Amino acid sequence: KVKLIIDTDPGVDDAMAIFFALLHPDIEVMGLTAVFGNVTVDVATRNAIVLGERAGQPTPVARGAQRPLVQAPNPVSDYVHGTEGFGDMEPQPIKGTALDETAAEFIVRMINENPNEITLCPIGPLTNIALALELDPSIAHKVKEVVIMGGAYGVAGNVSPHAEANIWNDPHAADAVFAADWSLKMVGLDVTHAVVFDPDDFAQLAAKAPVLGGFLQQAGDYYIDFYRRVVGINGCYMHDPMAVIATLRPELFSLENYPVEVKVNGAEIGQTCHSDIPNRSHTQVCTGVKAEEVKALFMDTIQAGF
Ligand code: BDR
Ligand code: CA
Repeated sequence: KVKLIIDTDPGVDDAMAIFFALLHPDIEVMGLTAVFGNVTVDVATRNAIVLGERAGQPTPVARGAQRPLVQAPNPVSDYVHGTEGFGDMEPQPIKGTALDETAAEFIVRMINENPNEITLCPIGPLTNIALALELDPSIAHKVKEVVIMGGAYGVAGNVSPHAEANIWNDPHAADAVFAADWSLKMVGLDVTHAVVFDPDDFAQLAAKAPVLGGFLQQAGDYYIDFYRRVVGINGCYMHDPMAVIATLRPELFSLENYPVEVKVNGAEIGQTCHSDIPNRSHTQVCTGVKAEEVKALFMDTIQAGF
């Protein structure tokens, strides 16, 4: 089984990613760590608890960073995911509470307790991951793999011509993650823009799995409306679930190895580009994807739920 910690700012596509991970029999979700991004960290923490409980698998949740390491916070993306993160759904009731430790403390503890077994899957800004590295740099050699949703290597960004949203929201943290000497895979816009999830797909999920598919359909309405108005497509990209899928089925992606750095100022702030910094470790950049298979795996997994 893939032992996963998902660092997240839920968010509609985060919800898709987390339901997929919780439902897939070959993934064990060890915990969720919350970060600001699509929503505030308080809403992200609450939403992470909601998703575990909704899936019938209350999952440990640790609250993380409320702002980026260095730069001033960007406004939250309420026009993309809604003020509460799940489109125009009201805040959902929860039973559980967050852990006492911070996201960075949780990540460090879990990696030290399970050496070479934990896969970290950040699907929000990379602040918690940078803080965990700062707290205990030795995790770089004890983590199995880090698979991020973020960045745009050979394509344009989605919040500026240069930057993808997760990197843009904390470029300094992202650069620390690319600089660390660990096994790092980048699932960026180069591949996530190849998979569109449309209203019929959501309807099919809702018909086959009314509770979880229905939740995604309801949350997805607002998200798709954003894509229609701003991006001009009838559906949304499957950004975050694709990073989780890459932890489980790496053979569905083609990779190129590059040293990557993040521009931390100027007009290109947030850009993920080839680095000339000496000795920078290489990132496995996803440049191709078997789109149909990725989508089918996602559909089958959610539909097998309830
Ligand atoms: C990323 O930004 C967020 O809005 C999504 O949840 C995803 O993690 C895509 O650029
Ligand atoms: Ca996200």
